[in-house]
Amino acid sequence: MKLILLGAPGAGKGTQAEILCEKYNITTVSTGAIIRESINSGTDLGNKVKAIIEKGQLVSDDIVIEIIKERLSKDDCKNGFILDGFPRTIAQAKALDTLGVEIDSVVSIEVEDESIIERLSGRRECSSCRATYHVVNNPSAKGDICDKCGAKLIMRKDDEPETIANRLKVYHAETEVLKNFYDAKGLLKKFDGTQDISKITEDIVKALEK
Ligand code: AP5
Ligand code: MG
Repeated sequence: MKLILLGAPGAGKGTQAEILCEKYNITTVSTGAIIRESINSGTDLGNKVKAIIEKGQLVSDDIVIEIIKERLSKDDCKNGFILDGFPRTIAQAKALDTLGVEIDSVVSIEVEDESIIERLSGRRECSSCRATYHVVNNPSAKGDICDKCGAKLIMRKDDEPETIANRLKVYHAETEVLKNFYDAKGLLKKFDGTQDISKITEDIVKALEK
């Protein structure tokens, strides 16, 4: 199965990807996670894009397309994958077509902008296994320690209110148009992302298995 998860920042793409990749035994490929990893390890790529990501702007198409090309060529993507946060522009979507990647479904998780600030300012991420939590909606049973691996939970640098507003602006200007792009190909499936996490998963699974 090859899926794309679309949605505004904080819509719940990472949360659903974490559940779906376990259910279907496929890999999640998150360009955001790959980029943050390279920033944390201080690679050339990381140093180049650090300021961009912290302002909530998009990294250039050339760079992310190169990241995806390399990542999808790895063995763990052979049985399928979930793309979380890619493509984010029409140019990126066309690059995926050029690579010959045949997507089965595009899952759009729909959440109004108004809920996003609350979601992202309460988000916590595991500093080791990258599991996602929310201090109110989806807390770790161990407070600021990850339930899954015991590492410390941290906040993302781009989850400051001003940066969130910019990320939302960029989403509406550059990424939202992908819904029409994939609807025209008959691949788009929309889901109400304001429901409980488990209900959204249930709806997605039902639609994928139809
Ligand atoms: P990326 O890491 O992809 O961030 P994003 O798209 O802004 O999305 P988020 O990860 O913030 O949100 P999410 O939808 O995964 O929500 P989550 O599940 O965590 O990209 C970061 C940056 O990298 C970009 O700004 C850009 O600079 C760069 N980048 C990445 N890809 C790129 C590309 N292709 N091209 C160019 N640049 C690129 O949930 C959020 C919170 O809500 C959590 O706390 C969660 O617990 C909670 N929550 C989840 N679901 C629910 C629910 N149903 N009800 C209540 N709370 C919920
Ligand atoms: Mg995410």
